[in-house]
Amino acid sequence: MNDLAHLNSHTASDGIENILRIKDLDREDILNLLDHAQHFADGSVANAHTRLDGKIIMALFVENSTRTRLSFEMATKRLGGEFILMTAEGSSLKKGESAEDTLETLNAMRPDALVIRHADPEFADLTTTIMDVPVLNGGNGTDEHPTQALLDALTVRQHFGDIKGMNVVICGDIKHSRVARSNVHLLTKLGAQVTTVAPESLQANIEGAIQSDDLNAALKTADAVMMLRIQKERFDKTEALDIDSYIKGYQLNADRLKLARPHCAVLHPGPMNRDIEITGEVADLQGRSLITRQVENGVYMRMACLDRLVS
Ligand code: NCD
Repeated sequence: MNDLAHLNSHTASDGIENILRIKDLDREDILNLLDHAQHFADGSVANAHTRLDGKIIMALFVENSTRTRLSFEMATKRLGGEFILMTAEGSSLKKGESAEDTLETLNAMRPDALVIRHADPEFADLTTTIMDVPVLNGGNGTDEHPTQALLDALTVRQHFGDIKGMNVVICGDIKHSRVARSNVHLLTKLGAQVTTVAPESLQANIEGAIQSDDLNAALKTADAVMMLRIQKERFDKTEALDIDSYIKGYQLNADRLKLARPHCAVLHPGPMNRDIEITGEVADLQGRSLITRQVENGVYMRMACLDRLVS
């Protein structure tokens, strides 16, 4: 299939007006977005470079970002649109303007969509009460990071063919990770079994996931393992972690990866802290590490999301 007729038949009335959470998407929405992104990956979308012709995508990033911000910008430009970025630094947020007033201001300029990233989990819902245009969530606190989970699923599906029946291990700072939450929701909706692995202090109860504190045991049956960074910036004053014992129990290194079956793939959403949660050797392991592919797919997936919501 080299056209998007089946996707274009979807309108806002079929449910997707914003992409805030994987929780809000059903299986069919997810599969459509994966197919849509795959068409971009294959280079098989006719006139891809004009689909956002005349459209302006605004982005409000109140937390740091490399991959998400740049790939939304790349995606917009690949589709022929314009991209305007606002960060907290250098803006009136630093002069005490409220989030509501900032959003009212952005809305009054009539962009065609807004991409957001914010430390407050409530921020995504707030944007949709103010903005008259589609909102795409690039990460709201510890809640969700839907486009990351979508690009991860695209990467896994390209590598394995099908996600159904897979056994996926997500290991690291589950407690503070929006990536873990979105991935559990998405992978379980597509029929995978997901185990979140962490020491008790970094574990979280995510509906649908099995919990374990034993990475060695979990690796034995894993088809894919996703390692996560320790998000120190989200720790409150009562939280502490002994890094040496964490590394001992939870770092993915070459010896530990030998416990997994030879086909077990390695993922990481980035940014990596090499030699903490993953060794450089494993991160760069040809044929097993899909980390660079995840970054590449981030552009295709964000093209799909923007095309679906804005074109
Ligand atoms: C993640 C995030 O911001 O949630 N990064 C990303 O978007 N690729 C994970 C992290 O910061 O550790």
